[in-house]
Amino acid sequence: MGSSVFKAVIPAAGLGTRFLPATKSIPKEMLPIVDKPAIQYVVEEAIRAGLSDVLLITGRNKGALEDHFDRAIELEATLENRGDVEKLAAVKQITELGKIHYVRQGDPLGLGHAVLTAANHVGYETFVVLLGDDLIAEQDNLLGEMLDVHKKFGGSVIALMEVPDSQVSLYGIASVKKTDSPNIVEILDLVEKPNVENAPSNFAIIGRYVLDPAIFKVLEKTQAGRGGEIQLTDAIRELAVNEKLGGPVHGVIFSGRRYDTGDRVSYLKTVVELASERADIGGEFTMWLKNFVGNLNGKR
Ligand code: UTP
Repeated sequence: MGSSVFKAVIPAAGLGTRFLPATKSIPKEMLPIVDKPAIQYVVEEAIRAGLSDVLLITGRNKGALEDHFDRAIELEATLENRGDVEKLAAVKQITELGKIHYVRQGDPLGLGHAVLTAANHVGYETFVVLLGDDLIAEQDNLLGEMLDVHKKFGGSVIALMEVPDSQVSLYGIASVKKTDSPNIVEILDLVEKPNVENAPSNFAIIGRYVLDPAIFKVLEKTQAGRGGEIQLTDAIRELAVNEKLGGPVHGVIFSGRRYDTGDRVSYLKTVVELASERADIGGEFTMWLKNFVGNLNGKR
């Protein structure tokens, strides 16, 4: 039986300050991973999971995002005239991915605020949030697993990844209770970017969420938290500690490949890893890379 969840919300309205000056006039979600912007990987993942209605939350730089998913008639005509069938197919495929809607966040007041701007579009349905700068490897069906957990338990489902102590202060961290399945936990509490001494576990929240629509009522009342931003983690915590609001919150512990493209070093690792796996350029790139790394020995 398929899932009854069809709507995906992809926030892409953050300022991307870690990537300035590149992100002065383009959203960080448009930065290319080899030859495809990060956001396209995320939209493709949503469509693969059966989420046929995609809402992008955009900000002041919405032009590039909308243009990317729109037809490019002149470009298509030029490629057609040149007989460049492969590139033409790649360009057309983007516009045929699914129905994409847009809403503007206005002020980037935080991820929680971005999700709240989706309330009218989503209505009273369970929906999925995918962060526009967080990539999950195509081979890993994380969203499919999360939707299965939602079907079994109802309520909301978040994705967790075990991180070393040195990284807990970069993430929302969960206090969890085991269930019968080794990779599914019940969420008891959440804390946004704690110091390692105060962290309840090493389970960090990553950028995929299945959310009960009760989250919107909670977000309306959520005050700015850590960093002066309205935090999605704070609102999900409300759902977790007060099950009556919108059902339980569960976590799927993910051990596959995930890439944070909003951070410079992580972005570079993503590009190198995915480039080395590409059928078209991987061989040549990997050969160069091995040579380059060989020459690095002894430096630094
Ligand atoms: P981040 O915290 O990674 O994005 O948000 P940021 O604030 O743009 O990054 P830096 O720290 O300044 O470099 C995670 C996701 O949430 C979106 C971002 O676009 C990103 O996809 N986001 C964040 C919004 O849509 N609106 C916001 O107000 C904040």
